[in-house]
Amino acid sequence: MKFFVDTADTAAITELAETGLLDGVTTNPSLINKAGRDFLEVVAEICGIVDGPVSAEVVATEHDAMMREAEVLRKIADNVAIKVPLTIDGLKTCKKLTGDGTMVNVTLCFTANQALLAAKAGASFISPFVGRHDDVGYPGMELIGDIRIIYDNYDFATEILVASIRHPIHVLDSAKLGADVATMPPNVIKQLFNHPLTDRGLEAFLADWAKTGQSIG
Ligand code: E4P
Repeated sequence: MKFFVDTADTAAITELAETGLLDGVTTNPSLINKAGRDFLEVVAEICGIVDGPVSAEVVATEHDAMMREAEVLRKIADNVAIKVPLTIDGLKTCKKLTGDGTMVNVTLCFTANQALLAAKAGASFISPFVGRHDDVGYPGMELIGDIRIIYDNYDFATEILVASIRHPIHVLDSAKLGADVATMPPNVIKQLFNHPLTDRGLEAFLADWAKTGQSIG
């Protein structure tokens, strides 16, 4: 499973890229607002930090205007993936852009039928939002299993990009269900490394090693 980080904070992206475990980045208008920086400038900077796909979202709601915004965004770098909402205009835009060889991430997916439509529109990525489903009392991960079955039934190449991840259990469940990508806030990626028994075990090993009086090399 690929790991994307869900942020426009370039310091956080750089830190995670240095682990060698980061495969891409997703942004959205709210994350751009949080970063407080110029959209085009920050996307260009992120594309220079990671080689993998960097999602940049259009804000127009009508097809022609979406295409005009996508034109601007895709010129930033070859690894930009244009993010479009799961609407009729968004999917028309998806079909057109992917036909031209541009990566497209279809966002704001809340049903398996929507994911089916996105795959038929040739989406590179579908972004089902699991956390926002959980927030309203529906088990978001069920959507991931359903989409996996449908995509496998028809050999769709669209990658399932689990979005709106809130905690490590979402990541574990995504991997068990065969999702292709998980996009996570930086703190969730960092939580994946942690276990108190790892810390305690390391402490004990280092204390015992110190007693040997030896050094390596
Ligand atoms: C990423 O592509 C999505 O926009 C993001 O994961 C949404 O997360 P949220 O529900 O925490 O805002």
